[in-house]
Amino acid sequence: MTANELRSKYIEFFKSKNHVEISGKSVIPENDPTVLFTTAGMHPLVPYLMGEPHPAGNRLTDYQKCIRTGDIDSVGDTSHLTCFEMLGNWSLGDYFKDESIRWSYEFLTNSKWLGIDPSRLSVTVFAGEDGIPRDDVSANIWKELGIPSERIHFLPREDNWWGPAGETGPCGPDTEIFYDTGDPSKPEDFKQGCSKGRYIEIWNNVFMQYNKDTEGNYNKLERQCVDTGMGIERTVAMLQGKKSVYETEVFQPMIKKVEELTGATYGTNSEKDCSIRIICDHIRAATFIIGDPKGVLPSNVGAGYVLRRLIRRAVRHGRKLGLDKAFLGDIAEVVIANFAIAYPELEEKKDFILTELLREENKFLETLKKGEAEFDKLLPNLMRNPQKVIPGRVAFRLYDTFGFPIEITQELAAEKGFSVDVEGFKEAEKKHQELSRTQSAGTFKGGLADHSEITTRYHTATHLLQQALVQVLGDHVGQKGSNITAERLRFDFTHGAPMTKEEIQKVEDIVNEQITRDLPVTMEVIDIEDAQKAGGIALFGEKYEQKVKVYSVGDFSKEVCGGPHVEHTGLIGKFKIQKEQSSSAGVRRIRAVLE
Ligand code: ALA
Repeated sequence: MTANELRSKYIEFFKSKNHVEISGKSVIPENDPTVLFTTAGMHPLVPYLMGEPHPAGNRLTDYQKCIRTGDIDSVGDTSHLTCFEMLGNWSLGDYFKDESIRWSYEFLTNSKWLGIDPSRLSVTVFAGEDGIPRDDVSANIWKELGIPSERIHFLPREDNWWGPAGETGPCGPDTEIFYDTGDPSKPEDFKQGCSKGRYIEIWNNVFMQYNKDTEGNYNKLERQCVDTGMGIERTVAMLQGKKSVYETEVFQPMIKKVEELTGATYGTNSEKDCSIRIICDHIRAATFIIGDPKGVLPSNVGAGYVLRRLIRRAVRHGRKLGLDKAFLGDIAEVVIANFAIAYPELEEKKDFILTELLREENKFLETLKKGEAEFDKLLPNLMRNPQKVIPGRVAFRLYDTFGFPIEITQELAAEKGFSVDVEGFKEAEKKHQELSRTQSAGTFKGGLADHSEITTRYHTATHLLQQALVQVLGDHVGQKGSNITAERLRFDFTHGAPMTKEEIQKVEDIVNEQITRDLPVTMEVIDIEDAQKAGGIALFGEKYEQKVKVYSVGDFSKEVCGGPHVEHTGLIGKFKIQKEQSSSAGVRRIRAVLE
């Protein structure tokens, strides 16, 4: 049975049980600001699970594309995916455990539907925890259906509780259905997780009874609901007796394309296989994200940043396989051809998807070129190091400033007989991640991030603004005052007339352009006299110490300033001028925010 057939059968089955088919929604959630992507089939249904009436009734079914990037670093093995499709059926205060479990069993085992041998099925049931009782009701239904006690496992909350999809929302105990692959080489342990063990989880029936609120409390929902999810890729692999999702027709055409482009043969070299799988998974995800009705483009923030990472990682693995020209479009075309049946919007947006992928791919190839040039520049200095180790902070600078992945630094280093201090790199990266995580949390949650980090972003934005003003209005622009809060920046500068709409737009565009360029922000300490002599460094008529800090934002701006600043402009966010007005005679005032 193919994925397309499974999709239709599932929907047909639940329609026969009086469910209404609704269409899956965007991979960008509409009602959950706590996460970047739709992570489960139920995600778009959250308001209805919480009590709002659904226009299509209280028995619903659909298929939904989902993105989960929490495990992105595990992608490349034979089971993890960042992008998958989920089949689901829902009861909004209608049926509960009894029908839900019986219908799942019927769909799985009845020869009219999937016809799976019932002796292959095992289930897990909630063991009870935190005052929520053990789910004997579900266990008894399974027993009545003929699943023997030894194949009914009671597991704690850690395993048998689902949700919420984001940080808040509906959740509850679940019962999960596993298929026994019978593979004797795999450990017989449910805790081994879905595909590592002998048992593959194919379906999850969640009994939604609680709403987790922002304080972390679990409040009882007004009405009990059922939410189920069946992963298409995994189930198809199971039905086809394949060891991995990549062996099914869902991924095979993409794999064939990579083979054709690289001359590699899948299944002959484990390292290459891993790269092939990463390319296929990531490009499918990227195609779905760009081609989505609420499509997102690569950027340095939020969902756009995840998309950028997916694309760049795919490019990098293409290079590992020997591809140094743009190739993502070739793979994306295969994805579009394969999935247009289920997602016609992919076909409609084909040109757009291919153009945007190519744009980002070329940009990254350019980055790689620059990084390689920078590496060559560093080389003479590194050669003096007798241990032949590239320090972690140098590797991190290449990564952070030039977007140069550590693996490529390692490759180049190896060519010159060097190794890289990966531990040191990881330390530097960790420090940086802590910063950007808080910063992106700020963009999603609106102001929960640490104030000092927000003001740091405003501070760097102010440097960009000043230089942009000089470029648009002229050299007479000088700083007259600057004031930053966690909500906005205010900048006073010398200029004789109100700015025109066009000028304001231009300044805004220039600033955002520098943010998109993701310029490095660097600092050097120099003598004030040198700074005054050097020219091109913005100084204000203040009294300075002998030694001053000069901050440079890429090749764009250079200013004497005490800092602190963000490490690279991509962290700033989107810049928007809200107001331009008079401050005093010959002095204008701009108020701007970061979105
Ligand atoms: N929402 C449940 C899941 O994603 C069904 O597993």
